[in-house]
Amino acid sequence: MYSYTDFDSAFIKERNAQFRAQVERRIDGSLTEDEFKPLRLMNGLYLQLHAYMLRVAIPYGTLNGRQMDKLADIADRWDKGYGHFTTRQNIQYNWPELRDIPDMLDALAEVQMHAIQTSGNTIRNVTADHFAGAAADEIADPRPVAELIRQWSTDHPEFQFLPRKFKVAVTGSPNDRAVTKAHDIGLRMLERDGVAGFEVIVGGGLGRTPMIGKVLKDFLPREDLLPYLEAIVSVYNLLGRRDNKYKARIKITVHENGIDDFRARVEERYALIRPQFGGIDQQLLAGIEADFAAPKFKTQSLAAFEAAYTNDPVFRSWADTNLTDHRAPGYAIVSISLKAHAATPGDATSAQMRVMADLARDYGHDELRISHEQNVILPHVHKSDLPALHARLKEAQLATANIGLISDIIACPGMDYCALATARSIPIAQEIATRFDDLKLEHDIGPLKIKISGCINACGHHHVGHIGILGLDRAGVENYQITLGGDGSEDATIGERAGPGFSAEEITSAVERIVMAYLELRHAPEETFLETYRRIGLAPFKAALYPEVQADAA
Ligand code: HEM
Ligand code: SF4
Repeated sequence: MYSYTDFDSAFIKERNAQFRAQVERRIDGSLTEDEFKPLRLMNGLYLQLHAYMLRVAIPYGTLNGRQMDKLADIADRWDKGYGHFTTRQNIQYNWPELRDIPDMLDALAEVQMHAIQTSGNTIRNVTADHFAGAAADEIADPRPVAELIRQWSTDHPEFQFLPRKFKVAVTGSPNDRAVTKAHDIGLRMLERDGVAGFEVIVGGGLGRTPMIGKVLKDFLPREDLLPYLEAIVSVYNLLGRRDNKYKARIKITVHENGIDDFRARVEERYALIRPQFGGIDQQLLAGIEADFAAPKFKTQSLAAFEAAYTNDPVFRSWADTNLTDHRAPGYAIVSISLKAHAATPGDATSAQMRVMADLARDYGHDELRISHEQNVILPHVHKSDLPALHARLKEAQLATANIGLISDIIACPGMDYCALATARSIPIAQEIATRFDDLKLEHDIGPLKIKISGCINACGHHHVGHIGILGLDRAGVENYQITLGGDGSEDATIGERAGPGFSAEEITSAVERIVMAYLELRHAPEETFLETYRRIGLAPFKAALYPEVQADAA
C-alpha cells in the first residue's frame, strides 16, 4: 500500500490551510457562494439539496484499518454517523456543516487522505479493480500504475481546467471489474511476447450520451504510459468543446473528430513530448511497486473452514456467494455486502466501518477495498479464519449473502440527497431488494445486476446494468425507464430501452415480470440473465413487461 512522502504530507497540509482561509471568508460573507464555488469544488465540496456534501477519494479503492477508522470518526463527529460509498471508490458525507469542513480535511490528512480532485473539471480519483493484487485471474496488480497516474495528475498545472471532468480506470485482469470501457480513459494491462503494456481505451462514458470506449492503441509498452496519457489529455484539453457543457466530455471529442483523427493528433503530440520523459517516472513506478508487495501469506489447515462449510448452511450460502478465488493457496477474497435488503445501497454506519477495520486487522493483513459496486472487500483472508470472520460480520449486520445477485443493487443518491435528481433511487432499490427477499428467489435467479440512477447523469451506471433503471420527472411525477442487456464487464454493452416507463408504484412489479420471464425462458439454471438476454433479445422481455400491449394487438 502506498504511503505519503514528506512532500505529499506538506502539500496536503498547505492545501488544507488555504482552504480553511477560504471557508472563513465564505462564512464571514467576504466571498459569495458563487465566488466560493470554484474554490470548494477544487476540494471535493458540493452543495446538495439539503446540505454541503464532502466527497473523499479512496485511491484505487484501497485503504487500511486506520484509515477506515478515521472515516468512521469523521462520520460520528461531523456527520450523522454514517457515510456513503460510491461507484467511483469515494466516500461521501452528506450532512457536514461548512465550518467543520477544514477540520474534516485535517482529520483525513492525519491518515494520508484528502478530497482534492474529487470534483471539478480535472482528472478525478483513479479507479482500479477492487480485487487487485489478490485475484487468481490477474496478470499484474494495477494499483502501482494507478498510483503513478494519481501522482502525475494531482495538481498537474496543465490539467486543472479541462473542458470537463476526466475519469481514468485501470484493470490488471482480463475479467474487467473496473468498467474500463465506460471511462474517459480505460487501461487494460496486457503482456505481449514477454513485454508488459496496456490496451488503451478512450472515450467511454455514461451520462446523457452513453458510449462504450474505443481502442486507441492496442498495445502500449509500459514505459510509454505517462507520455502517452499526457498526449491524450493535452489533445483533449485543446480539442474538447467548451461551448456546450453536455458536449465537453472526451467521448464527444472522439465521436465528432473520429477515432483515427484523434489518434493521429495524440501520436503527433506524443512524438513531441516523449523525450521529456527520461525514465524518472519508471524509477518512481519501481518504488511504488515495492510499496504494493504482497503480504506474507500464511499456511494453515483448512479443517475449520471445511467443517463450517459442511455443517452450517448459513455460512455455506454466504461463502458460495461472497467469496472469490484468491491467487494464494488457502486464501479467499471476501466481499462484504453493503446491501442488506432494506438498507441504503453503499451506506455504512460508523460502527460497521469500525468492525470492518477490525476484521481487516485481525484477519485480512490490514487491507480493505471499496468496490465500484458499493461494497467493501477484504482482499486477503485465510480460509481458516472465515468462520470467525463470518460470525462477526453477522453481529454487525454485514453478512448479507447477495454479492452479484438481484439485491446487490447500485443506486445513486437520487432525490434523497442530490440537487440534480429528478426521481428517487434509494427507495426503489430498497423495494426491489425487499420484494425478491420475500420471494426467496434470489439465489435461484443467480447473477443479475440492477443499477439505478435518479437522472440522466447516470451516476448509478444504469446503462451498464443487466437491468437498468433511470428515474425521470414526467410532469411532476416520477417515472422509471427500464433498459435491458447492459453490461459493464470486458464485453461492455449499453442496455436497450424496453419501452415506456413505469410509476414508482409499478416499477418493482415490472422488474418482477422481467425476472419471472427470465426464469421461464432460460435454457438451464446455469444460464444467467445476461446470457439468456443475449440469446433471445429484447422481444420476449418486452412481451412480459407490457402484457396489455400484447392483449391489444391480439
Ligand atoms: C450527490 C451528488 C452528485 C452529483 C451532484 C453528481 C453529479 C454528476 C453529474 C453532473 C454527472 C454527469 C457528468 C457527465 O456525464 O458529464 C455525473 C456522472 C456520474 N457520477 Fe455523479 N453525482 C453525484 C453523486 C454520485 C454518486 C453517489 C456516485 C456513485 C454512486 C456518482 C458516480 C457517477 C458516475 C459513475 C457518473 C457516470 C458518468 C460518466 O462520467 O461517464 N455520482 N454525476
Ligand atoms: S444520477 Fe443524477 S440524481 Fe443520481 S446522483 Fe447522479 S446527478 Fe444525482
